[in-house]
Formats: sequence, structure tokens, C-alpha cells
Amino acid sequence: MKKVQFTETVLRDANQSLMATRLPYSKFESILETMDKAGYYSVECWGGATFDVCLRYLNEDPWERLRKIREKMPNTKLQMLLRGQNILGYKHYPDDIVRRFVRCAVKNGIDIIRIFDALNDMTNLKVAIEETVKCGAHASGTISYTISPVHTISKYVELASELKQMGVSSVCIKDMAGIMTPQNAYDLVSGIKDAVDLPLVIHTHSTTGLAFMTYLKAIEAGADVIDTAISPFSGGTSQPATETLFYALKELGYDVSLDENSLFEIANHFKPIRNDYFEDGTINPISMTTDTQCLTYQIPGGMLSNLLSQLKMMNALDRFDEALLETPRVRKDMGYPPLVTPTSQIIGSQAVQNVLAGERYKNVGAEFKAYCRGEYGKTPAPIDEAIRAQILGDEKPIEGRYAASLPADTFEKAQQQLGDKARCEEDVLSYIAFPQVAERFFDERKKNEEKRVRYTITQA
Ligand code: CO
Repeated sequence: MKKVQFTETVLRDANQSLMATRLPYSKFESILETMDKAGYYSVECWGGATFDVCLRYLNEDPWERLRKIREKMPNTKLQMLLRGQNILGYKHYPDDIVRRFVRCAVKNGIDIIRIFDALNDMTNLKVAIEETVKCGAHASGTISYTISPVHTISKYVELASELKQMGVSSVCIKDMAGIMTPQNAYDLVSGIKDAVDLPLVIHTHSTTGLAFMTYLKAIEAGADVIDTAISPFSGGTSQPATETLFYALKELGYDVSLDENSLFEIANHFKPIRNDYFEDGTINPISMTTDTQCLTYQIPGGMLSNLLSQLKMMNALDRFDEALLETPRVRKDMGYPPLVTPTSQIIGSQAVQNVLAGERYKNVGAEFKAYCRGEYGKTPAPIDEAIRAQILGDEKPIEGRYAASLPADTFEKAQQQLGDKARCEEDVLSYIAFPQVAERFFDERKKNEEKRVRYTITQA
């Protein structure tokens, strides 16, 4: 009997995709012990946007959240999403910061680190993978999935083989836009499984409605782990439902060792929470519906709405069709990057600029220029030489890794700037990742503690 395992995403991706990661710890604390008994392969609970949102909106220390989850879930592998050399942000950090971050994540309770790069430039994954392996944790080498003339099955197989050589314990295909079709999944998984002897994880979203079929075909081709969300937080821009796949796969004869009663309890816990967030507007019901437009345009759903809002801001909604046509052209000029943060914004804004200026690459944003210089890494196909020369002028593109050119004393400098506001290495890393937000959090923390002291003295 072929075994299929589940990664539960309700605490990270489902929460991030449906409600902008606004789920506070207090809303799921009481269900963690049950989740620990459900038999998941792993629970994705950290990284991605959770870190930023904890500090910025929830007044939670993300490190403390992780330690608390760890304590309540001693038996389940805790998983995080890491943007390679970008850690949790959108720019590259020096190697030493990436290493410190990985070490602290593992020290505070993370077992599996899913490491990816927007361009699939493997040199951007190298340091994070190395350090994860060194810490004795599980590095899940991740490939961003996209469709383009250069993203062939053999290209993906090549990337997966490179990841294996880098020492990862599993390979993950990350379809952030939910555009992977059942047939693509079947071919891709077959190809990788034939060539690379490692557990294979498939990650997709229900956005286009393909996800259930895509997972089933991926499993038929030999995929080992799928990402799902407990039913109340499933569907639409989130993952397909855990229970649905559990029932279907069990009936088909797969070995799916999830505990049905635990799943039932977990769903019962999250159902009223989901209903409350529906009512107060935190979850937009539209995010739970099926949207097939991105299949036609081959552009992720989030990017379509970004294009619309940019054009609206510039009073140019009537240019939407032109911008839609220009987007794949810019993407082609730029070497077919997968469209995921930050490349989706970089390509999308430039397409809008090109249309509005009436001349291609007349106005070029700072990030776009940095992309052309090579600051984000090596592109899947070469950037169009003539266009790059036009944009860079006399400037030379970067040779080698951009991160290698970054200052080596970032940590010490941040430590100095923070003084006694930082109490541990983790605080300094929070500050390096999100400076203003973290500093405000530290100030709040101190104020609250003083308040508590005053309260205790009055009580005494
Ligand atoms: Co995702």
C-alpha cells in the first residue's frame, strides 16, 4: 500500500492566503494538543508572512509563538517557509545573517525548513540549505513552479537533482499560483521520481479549482506528501481540504494514517473562528471561491488584482487589456522568472509603466533596474541583451553572488543600534528583518512590562 502523508497549512499558508495572516496565537492555542495527535507529516506554522504580521499587527513575538507551539506539539514536525537568501523579506541578506536565522529557527523549535527562491537560482538556496543540514534539521529544497518555454520537465528534473546534491532531505514543488494542471503534475512528478530518489512534496492552491485533481494525479505518479488545510480554512486561495483528500485517498487504497477523530475536532475548532472572520470581513468570501482567469492569462490571481489596482490608482483602468498583453512580453524579456513575490511585482509594475509611458522601458523602477543588474540572482533564461544594455547604460551587471558583496558586520551594527532594547540574538534578527516594526514592538513590550510591574505593586 502506497503511503501518502499530509502537511497541515492552517497555521501558515491557509491563514496567510485567506486572511492576510491575521490569526493570533490565542485563537489556536487550545487545539494544538489535538493537532499533535492527528498524525500529520508536518504542521506548517512559521515563516512566510507570519513573522512580519506577528510583530506588525498582532503584537506577538514570533519566536515566542514558535516556542509555545513547540511546547504544545512535542510529537509533530514543525515546518517553516524560508525565502532562501531573502530569509523572510524581499531583499538579500549577508550569508552570516541567513545562517544565524536558520540556527535560531531550529533552536526555537523548527524541524523542517522549506527553502525556495523566486528565480530558482540554486546559489540563493545554498547557504540556507547548508546551515539547516548542519543544525541537524530537515532541509526541504523547493522549486518554484511556473509555466514558460524554458521550464520544461527536464529543467525541473535538473533542479531537483541539484537540490539533492546540495544535501536536502526532500524536494518540494511549490505551485504558489495554483496553475499546475493534473497532467502537468503527473508528468512532472514522474520525471522527478524517476531521476531523484528523495521524498517529493507537492504544494498547490485551490484558486483555479484544479488542486484536488492535481494532487490525485501527482500521487498516482508517486508524490509522497501533499499540503492541505483543515476544511473550514480550505478552498479558494488556500489549499484543498485535508479531510476530503483523506477520505478519497483512503477509499482508493492508499495508506493515509491520519486520525479521523482528531481531524473532526480540529475542524470543529476552526469552524466558528472562520465564521467570525467572515462576519467581520477579515476573510473576504471571494477568496474562497474558484477563479479560473489565471489559467487563461497564465498570471497568478494576486498579480491580476495588483495590475487592476495600479491602473485604478493612475486612472487608467481602460488600459487593462494592454497591460495584460504587455506582462508576458516583459516576463519574456526578463528571462521568464516565475511570477512570485518579489518578481511578480517587479514584472507587473514595469508592464504598467511600459503601457502608460507609451514607450517600452522609458521609465524604469529601482527594483526593475536591480533585477537587470542581477541582484535577485540568475534568471531562468538570459535577460534580453539589448534591453538590459538600454536599462543599465554604463553600469555593469553583477558577477557572482550578490550576497557575497553585502557587509559582513550587519549583525554587530544592528546590535549596537538596538542597545538594551534587544535581549537576545532573536531580537536582533527580528530587527534586521523588519527594523521599524521590530523596534516599535520592543518599545511596546517594555511599556507593557512596566505597566505590569506598576499593577503588581498597587495590588501588593
Ligand atoms: Co502557498
